[in-house]
Amino acid sequence: MIIAVDGPAASGKGTLAAGLARHYGLAHLDTGLLYRAVGLAVRDEVDAPDFEAAAIRAAHALDPDQLSDVAALTAAETGVLASRVAVIGPVREALRAYQRDFAARPGGAVLDGRDIGTVICPEADVKLFIEADSKARMERRARQLEARGVEVDRYALYHQIEERDARDRANPNGAFYRAPDAHLLDTTNLDIEAALRAAVAIVDGAIARKAGGNPA
Ligand code: C5P
Repeated sequence: MIIAVDGPAASGKGTLAAGLARHYGLAHLDTGLLYRAVGLAVRDEVDAPDFEAAAIRAAHALDPDQLSDVAALTAAETGVLASRVAVIGPVREALRAYQRDFAARPGGAVLDGRDIGTVICPEADVKLFIEADSKARMERRARQLEARGVEVDRYALYHQIEERDARDRANPNGAFYRAPDAHLLDTTNLDIEAALRAAVAIVDGAIARKAGGNPA
């Protein structure tokens, strides 16, 4: 079974995807980490004239199985860097095969990102699109960072998330919309447990409908 989980920054999709993977015993890939790793690799070249070429080289050189610097990868600034390399078509192409192979592994997988249901796994068994309002998303991300001992400027964080959302929405090489067959889950007023219960109910319902011969 392949479950595709998409949504904007800090919508809770990563936590939900990890919870779904545990619940159904599936492997999980946070595809944002791939873009973050490429962004981090070229952080010193952001203003260089050959930034795009450097990002494409970094994407080809990336070993997705060796992403270990969690603190640097998950930093808010790295998210902004990721959204800068994510608009480069050849960067997306370079990361595509790994994501598709991961999804095709025996036993299935949960992938979360922005274009999983639209580009990476259009054939996914179940697609979820996670939403939450901007303030709720900022507050969640702030608490995650604070739990790791990072000092947070909420005003700056809010603007980083807005900047990232705007760039992502306008990405000429992205397909960051809700797939027509994706189930919408708004987590603004749900805590993690309630959101996971809602997601499991959606997946169970979709599986039951498929088993009964009806499309999800
Ligand atoms: O999901 P996360 O916030 O870690 O993603 C960081 C950035 O990577 C996003 O803002 C987006 O620009 C990019 N991304 C992408 N496609 C994905 C996952 C992430 O373009 N499938």
